[in-house]
Parts: sequence; C-alpha cells; structure tokens
Amino acid sequence: MADRPVIGIFGAGKVGTALARLLVDAGYEVALSGSPRQTALDLLVSVVAPGARVRTPEELVREADVVVVAVPFGKAASVPWDAFDGKVVVDATNYWPPVDGHIAEIDADERTTSEVHAALNPDARVVKSLNHLGYHDMEDDPMPAGSPLRRALAVVGDDAEARATVARIIDDLGFDPVDGGALANGRALEPGHPAFGRELSAAELERLLAAERAVAA
Ligand SMILES: NC(=O)c1ccc[n+]([C@@H]2O[C@H](COP(=O)([O-])OP(=O)(O)OC[C@H]3O[C@@H](n4cnc5c(N)ncnc54)[C@H](OP(=O)(O)O)[C@@H]3O)[C@@H](O)[C@H]2O)c1
Repeated sequence: MADRPVIGIFGAGKVGTALARLLVDAGYEVALSGSPRQTALDLLVSVVAPGARVRTPEELVREADVVVVAVPFGKAASVPWDAFDGKVVVDATNYWPPVDGHIAEIDADERTTSEVHAALNPDARVVKSLNHLGYHDMEDDPMPAGSPLRRALAVVGDDAEARATVARIIDDLGFDPVDGGALANGRALEPGHPAFGRELSAAELERLLAAERAVAA
C-alpha cells in the first residue's frame, strides 16, 4: 500500500459523498460506487464531491486499498464482500431500526453488526469506524491535530495494522483517532450506546469505550 492509500467508497449517499469530499480535500484519491438506481452519478459526484472518481464495483475493488461500506444497513450484503480478500474494509454502517426497520435475524444475533458483516468474508480486514458521528458533524468539525476542541472517532477491528491504517486516515480528516481494540468492542459505537452520535474528545471517547468494555466483561 502506498503512503496514501486509495480509498474506495460504496454508497454515494449522505455519508459516502461527505467522506469523499473530506478525503479529496485531505489529498486522498477517492473512488465512489453508487446504487444502480443512481443515474447520472458522474454528474452528481462532479458537483458534490469534485475530484472523486465514479467507478463500477469491480473497478473500485481493483483500485482501492481501503474500502468504505457506506450503504444502508439492510443493503450491506449487496456490496461484493467476496472480492474484499486482504482489503482493509471500513464498516461505516449502523443498524438503526427507526431507519432500517426491525431485522429479525439481527435482533436475534448476539454479535455486533460489524462482526456479522466481517463474517461475510473472513479474509477482509474489517474495521468499524466513521459510523458514530453524523455526516454533518464530520463535515463541519475537522480540526488540525492538537486543537483543544478536536473531536474523536473510534476504530475497532481484529487486525491492528488495519486499525492503524484507518486511524491515520481519521487523523488526516481532522479528527483524533481512538483505538478501541477488537471488533467485538464495536458495540459501544452502535446506535443506542453512549458514544453514538456524540461529539467527544479522545479522552472522553476512550473513557466511554473502557466503561462499555467493563460492562461487557
Ligand atoms: N447519515 C449519516 O450521518 C451517517 C453517518 C455515519 C454512518 N452512517 C451510516 O452509513 C450508511 C449510509 O448512510 P447514508 O445516510 O449515507 O444513507 P443514504 O444517504 O441513503 O446513502 C446510501 C446510498 O448507498 C446506496 N447503495 C445501496 N446499495 C449499494 C451498493 N451495493 N453499492 C453502492 N451503493 C449502494 C443507496 O442507494 P439506494 O437508495 O438505491 O439503496 C444510497 O444511495 C448507513 O448504514 C448509516 O447508518 C450514516
């Protein structure tokens, strides 16, 4: 992987295009793949995320070092997980019944939602991140490293190198990365848990993650 990984984003909706804008601004090469229902995606992306390239799913997987899954939770299985062997895959999705409806299999599953996704391809290096702040917060609040009000974004995943790769991207985006350890710890970042939707400093986020780990132990 080059010093700056190429980022491929599945989902050209609210969070996908916001991340594309931020990443292009931060100097990353970005590829975006949208829904088959989105016609004239080239035009949309040239307006809302200039500099990002529209790609087919196959092209995106070929070009990207890091794949971001930013599609509705219920459609997460429609991205080509089989092709993600060895890739760092950021799961930015959230299962949020008010938006996604209740999904019986997920309600009955004791795993975190990112563990469920990671099981779709055990050779993908899945990191849960970029999910627990709203897209508008990520767009509005990037700050240089060292700023006292800089916000934090967590990374959890079972592959330490993959977590470090995503942490570096988060820092480049203008947020303090917080390493939350194993993918199972991602529960703390899911809707209904205290870190979700809250703008926190790194120290505050670390404390919340530690408290959730203690409750789960
Ligand atoms: N909104 C936020 O602030 C925010 C922040 C962090 C994380 N998230 C999470 O990120 C995910 C996306 O949220 P969003 O608000 O960006 O949703 P959104 O605005 O609905 O955008 C998602 C886009 O992904 C498309 N899509 C569906 N299947 C696809 C596929 N296989 N390949 C490429 N694109 C596909 C959807 O198209 P169709 O309409 O055709 O399905 C839609 O255009 C959700 O799980 C959400 O919980 C959201």
